[in-house]
Amino acid sequence: MRDIESRADIEQLIIQFYEKVKQDATIGFIFTDVVQMDWSHHIPVIVDFWETILLDNPVYKKNAMEVHYDLNKKVPLQQQHFSSWLQLFNSTIDELFAGKTATLAKTRAKGIADIMLLKMNKENDKHSVL
Ligand code: HEM
Repeated sequence: MRDIESRADIEQLIIQFYEKVKQDATIGFIFTDVVQMDWSHHIPVIVDFWETILLDNPVYKKNAMEVHYDLNKKVPLQQQHFSSWLQLFNSTIDELFAGKTATLAKTRAKGIADIMLLKMNKENDKHSVL
């Protein structure tokens, strides 16, 4: 199996990942009902994000945390959502690629998901009346 080497590889990974996401019982509704995703807009943005991380080409200039804070107001994002997200992301990588960059993608996804969960939890606690 090949490693992730190009933007086209990332694009393939992301398209296949979202096919799984849309059908997932735990997080699918977030993408299909809560946010009616404009995929033709979103896919190039998330490919930019991963190209920045994996191919060291700084094409993503936005703040990825921001959109999740907004989303978190509509659906409090919790452990089970991140577990499903990561499981789908990792299994898509394993279906398509193997190597140093494929492993890096999984490691970085886990790191970012952990931080994101902590930040969302903190935000949710702030608004708790208990
Ligand atoms: C509970 C897990 C997650 C859910 C439900 C989720 C959901 C979403 C949704 C619905 C959007 C689109 C928002 C919009 O355009 O209005 C989005 C954007 C994005 N997500 Fe996530 N996400 C999750 C975890 C992650 C993780 C772990 C990463 C990174 C490793 C990530 C990276 C991104 C990026 C880069 C964008 C695009 C941000 C931008 O527009 O600049 N997401 N996510």
